[in-house]
Amino acid sequence: MKSTKKIYITTSLIAVGSVLVYWIYRSTTSSRRKPPQRPPVVQRIQSLDEVRNMKWERVGRVSRLCVYLVKSASPTLVQEAWVEENAFGSGRMKDRCFILVTGKGQMLTGRMEPRTVLIKPFLHHDTLTLSFPHTPNLHINLTHVQANNDKRKTRVWSDDVYGLDCGDECAQWLEGVLGRKCRLLYNASLPDTPPRTIHLTDTHTHKFPLLRKDDPSSQYADLTGYMLMTTESIADLQTRVPQVTLDPLNFRPNILVEGTPRPYHEDAWMYVRIGEAVFRNVKPCSRCIFTTIDHHSGIKDVNMEPLRTLRKYRCFDKADPTTPMLGINLGLDLPGILRVGDDVYVTTM
Ligand SMILES: *[C@@H]1O[C@H](CO)[C@@H](O)[C@H](O)[C@H]1NC(C)=O
Ligand SMILES: *[C@@H]1O[C@H](CO)[C@@H](O)[C@H](O)[C@H]1NC(C)=O
Repeated sequence: MKSTKKIYITTSLIAVGSVLVYWIYRSTTSSRRKPPQRPPVVQRIQSLDEVRNMKWERVGRVSRLCVYLVKSASPTLVQEAWVEENAFGSGRMKDRCFILVTGKGQMLTGRMEPRTVLIKPFLHHDTLTLSFPHTPNLHINLTHVQANNDKRKTRVWSDDVYGLDCGDECAQWLEGVLGRKCRLLYNASLPDTPPRTIHLTDTHTHKFPLLRKDDPSSQYADLTGYMLMTTESIADLQTRVPQVTLDPLNFRPNILVEGTPRPYHEDAWMYVRIGEAVFRNVKPCSRCIFTTIDHHSGIKDVNMEPLRTLRKYRCFDKADPTTPMLGINLGLDLPGILRVGDDVYVTTM
């Protein structure tokens, strides 16, 4: 009788103990898997009335607006930019409406060919001009490109995208400057073509609840059509990598903001209002080898800086210790005009 009782108590203790161990295990592993703390569901802001009723904090001013007419090429600095559903730019100078592809039709970016950043595009009426150091300029008549209507397909990450081939003369010029077979595709995102919607995986939506399936993207952008950086974050990174001279261009922002309260303040922004435009911070911007390209020489840093340093303190996903985050990707809630010098207002998380 006594020994039965003993066995009974021992068994119960083991059972309770295992449940406890399992519970501790579950709670520690699930907390390790937790995405960054975000408010549950954030609605799209629908009207300016709503904007007026929100509490905004001024955090800085716009110091630069950059349009990357050709993906991976040199930017054009503009004094004002119109932001709308599928475009960021000024007039026909729209962000990423041209893309370079390899001879086999695959997306060619600065990651594979760093000298693409030395290609300087300029658009005037229907003429696209490309320039490159020590090379005569190339002029492309886009009315001809449209009339030829040589439609091709390529892929930006997991999305199929389309564009019109800019012709053999352009391909030869590009081969001359980059030393490899390469073509240029054009997609004007004309009003009658729907904006490209991003292909979101479950990982995306799980980690970044503010990113919506209907967040539009410019034709050939990696994710959403707008990327914002602050000079304070770049300056802080610079103190950690004194051996390289950083330029905001290492990070290819569309909107550069200066005067923010402290470095990395943008991590906590939720809505961002500039002029009448209202954006949402949809996710921190993931960083790759592109950050190591000097935009004045078109050469990658031999020591992989500043990427190596960023990896030491800006990787937030333990499962991915090689992809640091810097700057923020924005989704658009309300369109409008942005101007250099505009005040930047935010709500924070
Ligand atoms: C481009 O081609 C169109 C159609 O041939 C022509 O009307 C236009 O003048 C050309 N543009 C330039 C700048 O040559
Ligand atoms: C431009 O892109 C849109 C969206 O991907 C696509 O539907 C359209 O066919 C493209 N236009 C051309 C001319 O390739």
